[in-house]
Amino acid sequence: MRLLVNGKAHELEAAPDELLLWVLRDKIGLTGTKFGCGEGECGACTVLVNGRPVRSCQVPAAAAAGKPITTIEGLERNGRLHPVQAAFLRHEAFQCAYCASGMIMSAAGLLARNPKPSERQIRAAMNGNLCRCGTYSRILKAVRAAALASRKRA
Ligand code: FES
Ligand code: FES
Repeated sequence: MRLLVNGKAHELEAAPDELLLWVLRDKIGLTGTKFGCGEGECGACTVLVNGRPVRSCQVPAAAAAGKPITTIEGLERNGRLHPVQAAFLRHEAFQCAYCASGMIMSAAGLLARNPKPSERQIRAAMNGNLCRCGTYSRILKAVRAAALASRKRA
């Protein structure tokens, strides 16, 4: 199959039911996408497919073939962090950071389709991402800050 990941094409072999998460991590070497629950419940494995956040532990890689896939490694541009990444750093929106990649991808997906999200929309978009360390208030602060930054740019 041919996977388009972070703007680069990868030709690879994978079983029809092989999950996108493992293909990204084990076959392409992009280990920024994390395995958490493996059941679609925690959001640690979130990537963007066609600009939409998906749980890569639930999606066969074959289903994403030919579609643009973005992982945490593909967010920065020309050495500049994505505004959501920058806001997470600025607001220290993590402790162990295991959830951070999925959190950032969910937030980036939200801002890509809605640069001016309301508080309710932010909370709804981030609702499926879990943080075992409980840094939710800082995570929300970072997403609000990134939204504000993208609003100023819009
Ligand atoms: S590892 Fe995919 S949702 Fe938890
Ligand atoms: S910072 Fe540890 S799980 Fe979120």
